Amino acid sequence: MAIQLTADLEAQVRAESRRWLVTGSAGFIGSHLLETLLRLGQQVTSLDNFATGHRHNLEQVRQAVGEQAWARHHFIEGDIAEPEVCAQACEGAQIVLHQAALGSVPRSIKDPQTTHRANATGFLNMLVAAKDAGVQRFVYAASSSTYGDSPTLPKVEDVIGRPLSPYAVTKYLNELYADVFGRCYGLQTVGLRYFNVFGPRQDPNGAYAAVIPRWIASMLRGERCSINGDGETSRDFCYIANVVQANLRSGLVESAEAANQVYNVAAGDRTTLNQLHAALVSQLGVERPALVIEPPAYADFRAGDVRHSLADIDKAGRLLGYAPTHRVHEGLAEAAAWYVANVA
Ligand SMILES: NC(=O)c1ccc[n+]([C@@H]2O[C@H](COP(=O)([O-])OP(=O)(O)OC[C@H]3O[C@@H](n4cnc5c(N)ncnc54)[C@H](O)[C@@H]3O)[C@@H](O)[C@H]2O)c1
Repeated sequence: MAIQLTADLEAQVRAESRRWLVTGSAGFIGSHLLETLLRLGQQVTSLDNFATGHRHNLEQVRQAVGEQAWARHHFIEGDIAEPEVCAQACEGAQIVLHQAALGSVPRSIKDPQTTHRANATGFLNMLVAAKDAGVQRFVYAASSSTYGDSPTLPKVEDVIGRPLSPYAVTKYLNELYADVFGRCYGLQTVGLRYFNVFGPRQDPNGAYAAVIPRWIASMLRGERCSINGDGETSRDFCYIANVVQANLRSGLVESAEAANQVYNVAAGDRTTLNQLHAALVSQLGVERPALVIEPPAYADFRAGDVRHSLADIDKAGRLLGYAPTHRVHEGLAEAAAWYVANVA
């Protein structure tokens, strides 16, 4: 399922053939960035160590774009915790879209060192390699987890709280390092604080799967979904097309004011887990009318989770020209159709 972008952005990308580096390309977000860039005539180096990503994601991209476009892709299997791998990947790159990291708050609570190695050491290695290679722009996946225990809603970039998990520490550290690399070495960086991204190819399996793919897969298997807490926990769920848009705009934006900043990337809509469950029931009812879906079971709240999350997306609109093309329901419709076709 190709990501739909606005015509102006597609034209802007197609206008010049650039060399991009996408890290984490075998993962959910990275594979969509890779696919979109190849579809728009770009040269792409990509890097992954398959820690959580899959070869079948790369194979899907290959099939989607065709052999001619795939020939403009150079894949490196390697670990960003090794500086020489990062140096090799950054060679010749004009724009870096750095996505490789270990996601999941619970994973980081269980094993903070492994998360730190990829997300902190690996991130620093990537910054050094990008600086040494003279890349024009380093765009990276930051996270809404940086808002931590701040109760302010909606979340505005300048007001953050204390981190609630080792994962959140690493993502905040990324922002601090990126800022300092701007000051000390003149590297242009853009941090994108993603809010609960979802869409096709997001992994539904494993202990650390995100809620939307996990629930869709459970519903399709006829299993009951489990809600952590009372279901009134809320999130600003953001469809993958919006995230791809934000990355491309960040890579290409020319105004000096837009660089060396962090931005919220979200839909700007707040959805509770109870509402999400109901929306998925009705969406899968469209795809699979005969499917019987049980009401959810309620379990304990999960350590390290924030209670509510909703983004103010004004800054990304003003400085990057970001405007979400997909509201939550539109994204859920596309995602559910993909999971029914690919996972069921
Ligand atoms: N999905 C979300 O809701 C969300 C929210 C906020 C931030 N993020 C961030 O977005 C980025 C992409 O997340 P995703 O959802 O696509 O996750 P994902 O797990 O699908 O993709 C991450 C990719 O990075 C690769 N990777 C991990 N460690 C690596 C290492 N040491 N060296 C090389 N490759 C490595 C994995 O194999 C995987 O393919 C991550 O930085 C994540 O922290 C995601």
